[in-house]
Amino acid sequence: MKTFAWHFERPASFTAFCVSLLSLALSLAGVSGASGQTPARLSIDVNHVVSPVSPTLYGLMTEEINHSYDGGLYAEMIQNRNFHEDWEGEPPWDLVRRGNATASRMLDKSTGPSETLNYSMKLSVTEASAGNEAGLTNPGYWGYGLKPRTTYTGSLYAKVDDTGVGPLAIRMVSNATGKVLAQAKVVVEAGAWKRYEYKLVTGTEAASIANHLEFTVAHPGTVWLQLVSLMPPTFHDRPNGNRTDLMERMAAMHPKFLRLPGGNYLEGMTVQDRFNWKKTIGPLTDRAGHSGPWFYWSTDGLGLLEFLEWCEDLKVEPVLAVYAGYSLGGTHVATGKDLESYVQDALDEVEYVTGEVSTRWGAERAKNGHPAPFPLHYIEIGNEDYLDKSGSYTERYAQFAQALHARYPQYKLIATDGNSEYETKVHPDVSDEHYYKSPADMMDLVHHYDAASRSGPKIFVGEWATRSGSPTPNFGDALGDAAWMTSMERNSDLIVMASYAPLLVNVSPGGMEWPTDLIGFDAGTTYVSPSYWAQSLFAGHLGNGTAENKIDGENKRFFYSATVSEKERVLHLKLVNASNLDQPLNLELAGVKGARTATILSLHGATFEATNTLSNPDAIRPVETKVSILGGKWAHTVKALTIEVIDLPY
Ligand code: AHR
Repeated sequence: MKTFAWHFERPASFTAFCVSLLSLALSLAGVSGASGQTPARLSIDVNHVVSPVSPTLYGLMTEEINHSYDGGLYAEMIQNRNFHEDWEGEPPWDLVRRGNATASRMLDKSTGPSETLNYSMKLSVTEASAGNEAGLTNPGYWGYGLKPRTTYTGSLYAKVDDTGVGPLAIRMVSNATGKVLAQAKVVVEAGAWKRYEYKLVTGTEAASIANHLEFTVAHPGTVWLQLVSLMPPTFHDRPNGNRTDLMERMAAMHPKFLRLPGGNYLEGMTVQDRFNWKKTIGPLTDRAGHSGPWFYWSTDGLGLLEFLEWCEDLKVEPVLAVYAGYSLGGTHVATGKDLESYVQDALDEVEYVTGEVSTRWGAERAKNGHPAPFPLHYIEIGNEDYLDKSGSYTERYAQFAQALHARYPQYKLIATDGNSEYETKVHPDVSDEHYYKSPADMMDLVHHYDAASRSGPKIFVGEWATRSGSPTPNFGDALGDAAWMTSMERNSDLIVMASYAPLLVNVSPGGMEWPTDLIGFDAGTTYVSPSYWAQSLFAGHLGNGTAENKIDGENKRFFYSATVSEKERVLHLKLVNASNLDQPLNLELAGVKGARTATILSLHGATFEATNTLSNPDAIRPVETKVSILGGKWAHTVKALTIEVIDLPY
């Protein structure tokens, strides 16, 4: 079959022009690609949709892991702002004693600004003077990400017995030079605990992260401190909000939902350390924090309302996971009476998310600053309950499902006892199944759902990732992920939602618990992995249905998805060549008439191991080219180790 395709690169260059001419000549001669491979034949009928694609297919899943929140998305810059005793890792607070100043610090369990934060840091200064100050220093979360000409908003609770100690000086200091990059003063009144605010405004210094923060006095005396906070400008200027750069990265993934609050983070290691949502709402002085399952303390500054506002800011819906009485350490709550209060917590949680202000928990949400209810369609009962070897999930699920159905019949319930090896034993609307695989194993899994039963529950692939790169996916992982996404799109009549996990990792030394993670960051910068690009491209060109299609003669590591946006009349082709040989294709696109221009977004890595890093963030990123196609016939070669997302109007 003759093909008529005119390739041209953008931005145009002489080399690209020559390549295009050669390509056209080869095309006219009926030879596809320079590899000598026999072309595979891919036929697609854009006017014949064979199965629907779920509009909510791609979403986000996160949890407190790899310092995703504290030291990550949650914009708080001060590490251990509550002076929590069991803060994991190096105690972040230390003394500053300039010149001959003398001072000591101790945790004072007898006084604090609230019933919950009923303890504080007591700074006792016995000798200090101007230039010889004494106080406390905090390293931030592996530094403080500062930008020029930026205002940072701080607050703290403080108490002094005697104002003779003088004002509290707050200074952001460069680690390398000792230069003060921004400073403020707080005059603390004698007597009761009080909240104070301060602002740090940077000058023209270049952006940096190797900085620390000091709180000092210049006279002898005693100061008690608690809830010492510093925030940069946040996304949408939310008070107590999120880092702008990370929110922008997530927004560019075109997500439709956020599964919250985890993962193992929902369950905790013990029942006691579950995500106890009622303790994560309201004033920060009422949030004690809790021990997370990933070996560090969580401040709960990013609590349930902040999760929901995060959804609102990204214009996505929450997929609300409720604690179901099983914790990762292996304990579970007995069904019946013992489980009742947990079921009630779940009912209350749904009311907090969705209830009108006239309801008990809707009113609480309004009191917390958000009168409008949030949208909700899915409630997930637990997380990875197939790990509960006692087999208690069937009964626990039943107790939760009965209560939730009775009160909220409109919401779909998701069960978590199914996985890649066996099906759920309960009868949910949706079953959450998780896949963590090597590139080879992920590619071998792509037909897993092709023959799966369509008469059981729908599937939520609530966690999935191809894992070999660390801290973030390499190009081999991106190929595995892209191959897997072609299969999820093809089976999206069954798979209603899917979310990669984990999403975020602080790549500073000691920040990561779990490789492989989609987006890397430190105190000041973010970078994205090849897998991130693959996902963002797939989700940005989803379509509403799979077009009838057939392929013959492709290599064993070639994967594809052919969806259409029927209203816009655009074919979205995803072509994944995970082989080290080029894959020539003869495309026959029934329904594509006349001259059309295809836009190709192409992602290529030289090897499976090729990747992006904080210091080389753009090694692999999409490149756009345009190709003219005549009469729906197209000889096109997908280069070795290449992922392409192609839009073709018809
Ligand atoms: O994503 C990391 C962990 O993997 C999740 O917390 C858990 O659900 C899964 O086992």
